[in-house]
Amino acid sequence: MRILITAGGTREYIDPVRFISNASSGRMGYALARAALKSGHKVVIITTIENSKLETQNSKLKIIKVVTAAEMFKAVKKHFRQCDCLIMSAAVADYTPVRRVKTKIRKQDKTLSIKLKPTADILKWAGKHKKKDQIVVGFALEDKAIRNRAAKKLKEKNLDMIVANTPAAIGADKSTVQIKTPCSGWMKIKNVAKAAIAERIIAVIEKAIYGNHQRNVRCI
Ligand code: CTP
Repeated sequence: MRILITAGGTREYIDPVRFISNASSGRMGYALARAALKSGHKVVIITTIENSKLETQNSKLKIIKVVTAAEMFKAVKKHFRQCDCLIMSAAVADYTPVRRVKTKIRKQDKTLSIKLKPTADILKWAGKHKKKDQIVVGFALEDKAIRNRAAKKLKEKNLDMIVANTPAAIGADKSTVQIKTPCSGWMKIKNVAKAAIAERIIAVIEKAIYGNHQRNVRCI
């Protein structure tokens, strides 16, 4: 398979030196890349974070470095057609400043407001534009009503799998996730290393792709 993975949190610049971002470490995305390579797949990783452990010579791996949500969207659009599966594990900013101030904002003795506009929802775009044989996997970061909200994203974004996690997963080595596909119930993977979660996700995707060839049914 050719697997396209996004990793890390995007940075939305306010001026040349300040940005809005989040605490995503990119660990889940890199763990997914490692698990996919281990299984013999080709990987393109679009990432905001560099990871020296992975950036070795590997003919099956392509790393694309981006910074902003807009750059990530552009890179996903460029590579989406050639992939069998997209895994959106990046923490993409939902908002970006309406305008990026060209020079450093100077301190003033009054309140400062920054106007934000929504970014494009990359995952939603992929769910809408995927071809019959393409698989799109999304993540859902939820702090309450986890299953309900994640199931809603699975359906509304036309996904083939949703991986629900909580804010505790951000930047951590271990995580608890719940996985659902349109045809399955919830599968809970509790407090294990992100590497183990990644291997599980790749295994479910593989089953879907190979099952698809055998049964001509797209249900994972
Ligand atoms: N995502 C995306 N583009 C964005 C924002 C998020 O592709 N502009 C993707 C993330 O990579 C993740 C999924 O959407 O796979 C869900 O992200 P999440 O932050 O949980 O949900 P949102 O759809 O942004 O909705 P909300 O913030 O209201 O929960």
